[in-house]
Amino acid sequence: MSETENSNLWWKNAVVYCLDIETFFDSDGDGIGDLPGLHEQIDYIAELGVTCLWLMPFYPTPNRDDGYDITDYYGVDQRLGSLGDVVELIRAANNRGIRVIADLVVNHTSAQHPWFQAARSSKESPFRDFYIWRSNPPPDTSAEVVFPDQENSLWELDEQTGEWYFHRFYKQQPDLNISNPRVRREITKMMAFWLQLGMSGFRVDAVPFLIETMGLGAEALAGFGEPHGYLRSLRSFVSQRNGEAILLGEVNLPYEQQLEFFGPTGDELSMMFEFIGMQHLYLALARADSEPLVNALKQRPAIPPASQWATFVRNHDELTLDKLPPSQRQEVFDAFGPEKRMQLYGRGLKRRLPPMLNGDPQRIRMVYSLLFSLPGTPVLFYGEEIGMGENLKAEGRKAVRTPMQWTSQPNGGFSTAPRQQLISDMAEDGFGPEMINVLAQRGDTDSLLSFVTQLVHRYRDCPELGWGEFKVIDQPHRGVLAHTCTWQGRAVLAVHNFSDKPVTMSLTLPDFTGHVLRDLFGGANCEVSSSGSAELSLDGYGYRWLRAYRKEDRWV
Ligand code: GLC
Repeated sequence: MSETENSNLWWKNAVVYCLDIETFFDSDGDGIGDLPGLHEQIDYIAELGVTCLWLMPFYPTPNRDDGYDITDYYGVDQRLGSLGDVVELIRAANNRGIRVIADLVVNHTSAQHPWFQAARSSKESPFRDFYIWRSNPPPDTSAEVVFPDQENSLWELDEQTGEWYFHRFYKQQPDLNISNPRVRREITKMMAFWLQLGMSGFRVDAVPFLIETMGLGAEALAGFGEPHGYLRSLRSFVSQRNGEAILLGEVNLPYEQQLEFFGPTGDELSMMFEFIGMQHLYLALARADSEPLVNALKQRPAIPPASQWATFVRNHDELTLDKLPPSQRQEVFDAFGPEKRMQLYGRGLKRRLPPMLNGDPQRIRMVYSLLFSLPGTPVLFYGEEIGMGENLKAEGRKAVRTPMQWTSQPNGGFSTAPRQQLISDMAEDGFGPEMINVLAQRGDTDSLLSFVTQLVHRYRDCPELGWGEFKVIDQPHRGVLAHTCTWQGRAVLAVHNFSDKPVTMSLTLPDFTGHVLRDLFGGANCEVSSSGSAELSLDGYGYRWLRAYRKEDRWV
């Protein structure tokens, strides 16, 4: 691909930053983060080197599911600001080279959405078919609910009309009937609206559930067509409206099934979160053995050239371990969340990384170094860059959605409101703002924030990490992962030590015979001998990135 084509596919080596406006920065002292507050802090995000900002839902909502239950797709939750504030924010971000994407939540609406209110008012409502109904008592679906602590069926009886409606998530989130052409038109119209306002695409919520046909009657099924055809049509619509817009999909499925969501020619989702690699990363950390991650990475299927994996360590939900067999999940629980209060839904953890690693700075850095050197596009969840912890007292997934910690002042500088008025309590247990905050780390070259900033910039300097071909390099230490990413004559070798024991290893690198491996973080360079071997040492939980140069290359 030419330079021009490369830069068009900006998502191939973007750095994505996810945040919830309501917990980021409160500008008016009401205890709730808001758009003007985020705008004020946009230079913080720019300084970090982020190139794409993912905004969690900011639409009007009764907040049953933290904004993932929407009552108006065209609006802004008035506690956060206005549409004008969204446009101002997009502009401020764009001016700093940052694109903005928004959550697209169209598997369901809020039960308070006017469509559902109309639909449930009578079987004859013109909106009845916007949702999925059944008139006979439903079978037992308790095993299929997503939030097993709150729900025990995918169907809820609506007293008014005596029929049951389908809801994959909470009962306050009725599923939209995607087989209905009117619903499809509403969805594209709404996407067009946000693209027109300047969004560079969407993080698409719950994609497999969006295109599932469960609950549909025969007629609706016939109208649905091929489920992936729907996804293709969404992508094609988005690309027609804005050639650079992406669909970053949430698809937590085994690799082979996940692959189908890119589409055979890359014409469905542009990117997908790498859930399988993430889950195996935690198993590898728990065992101090890189093998689970190495095996997962080796099984990662090849994807179409313009498609991309979005790699992450933590997201805004439970840290799900649902794709690990029970005994392996238990190993991760034992290592990182042995107490019930640390676990969620029997399949995940409520914690952020630093408390799980007992705040060990070297080990935390090793994990982020790995995140940024794995093939793919890294996604950070706000606060990861400073090492924020969680609040285990907060209900469910809210444990990791605590306010951003800006300073050691009251409320971590997030808000001037009285503490009890805050949208949520701060993180605690040694990871609160007194210990962990932006102000203290910003000027400190040894801080985690400085380190992550450096990682972001190195990653951006090394397009081979986003674009390149990935290869695991064999070496004898179980605790170590050595890999290369190679692209257009450039290559980065990354080595990471999952164990606390220092190691020295000899790597066989026939492709780099006679090259110099330049350490990208200021360590000693290293030569690959004429027989193609290189000697490297790593501290316990050590990490290194080395770029291969021939002596005659320009070392840029
Ligand atoms: C996705 C979101 C999650 C939300 C759910 C329902 O899984 O990540 O936060 O609760 O969809 O919208």
